[in-house]
Amino acid sequence: MATIKKVGVLGCGLMGSGIAQICAQAGYDTVVREVEQKYIDKGLGGIDKSLGKFVEKGKLAAADKDAAMGRLQGTTSLDDLADCDIVIEAIIENAQLKKETYAELDRIVKKDAIFASNTSSLTITELSMATARPKQFAGLHFFNPVPLMKLVEVVRTILTSDETFDTAFAFAKSVGKDPVSCRDNSGFIVNRLLVPYILDAIRGFEEGIGSIADIDKAMMLGCGYPMGPFTLLDFVGLDTTYYITKVMYDEYQEKRFAAPPLLRKMVLAGRFGRKSGAGFYDYAGEKPVPFDQK
Ligand code: 3HC
Repeated sequence: MATIKKVGVLGCGLMGSGIAQICAQAGYDTVVREVEQKYIDKGLGGIDKSLGKFVEKGKLAAADKDAAMGRLQGTTSLDDLADCDIVIEAIIENAQLKKETYAELDRIVKKDAIFASNTSSLTITELSMATARPKQFAGLHFFNPVPLMKLVEVVRTILTSDETFDTAFAFAKSVGKDPVSCRDNSGFIVNRLLVPYILDAIRGFEEGIGSIADIDKAMMLGCGYPMGPFTLLDFVGLDTTYYITKVMYDEYQEKRFAAPPLLRKMVLAGRFGRKSGAGFYDYAGEKPVPFDQK
């Protein structure tokens, strides 16, 4: 197995910053790249806050927080990832942009480094073919919020070498996660099961099975889920979910992966969920208010 000492992360948004955080916490020198300095500042600010929460709760020593922050380097230049042993990409879910970025990265990063994508639905095989190292390419799919969620789906394509897969799997463990092994099928394990469920919640609501609050409450109290489907949709982001449905429907051509009209309308209306202040709930007040109660 290859030895990982330095980690590169592409993207410092919700997922990228979480991934960078846990890598730095685990002791890796971590370089995180964004397209503009303002996104780096925002992402690193979020990491500082998250680590601060762990210190407050006595789960992390203040000195370890400082050490983790010290291992993080923000950059706007891909060149700064040249000597990384693994690069994890967590930029927006746009296949073309990802492929262009990987192609550029392939010319910059040392030849024996592993590339991984945090994509939730795109095919890893397609992304890997944008590089000259498809054998050293795997999926590392983390879950939101990354510092709290234990799972990582480690995805192998038909081209991924055993050494790359084993290194990626061991790496996921080394950052404190409990990984599972997946084949490169759109949605892997979790989204393959989760996406039809949350889309069915929207369809059920459209058909009048219950209010947004009651559907959420039913799934929390009836199934022991930590969040109901609408709270989860707002948490993941409706724009992100909509994009995932397009990719998965395109791949499987099955109705269960197709976006219900209401999801599309919410996205068209700019109601992206928590991140935009409103989705299936409004977040302007003290407590979230379901939009069907207005
Ligand atoms: N860093 C540090 N602390 C954090 C944090 C972070 N990033 N995010 C939340 N916390 C803290 C909260 O601030 C809170 O602190 P407090 O107790 O001081 O208020 C604490 O963690 C617990 O949060 P909650 O009070 O909200 O309590 P929960 O017990 O509900 O835990 C949760 C939160 C872990 C998010 C839980 O609700 C949960 O598991 N929800 C489901 C999440 C889920 O399903 N994620 C997967 C989404 S799908 C996905 O990511 C795949 C993608 O491809 C779409």
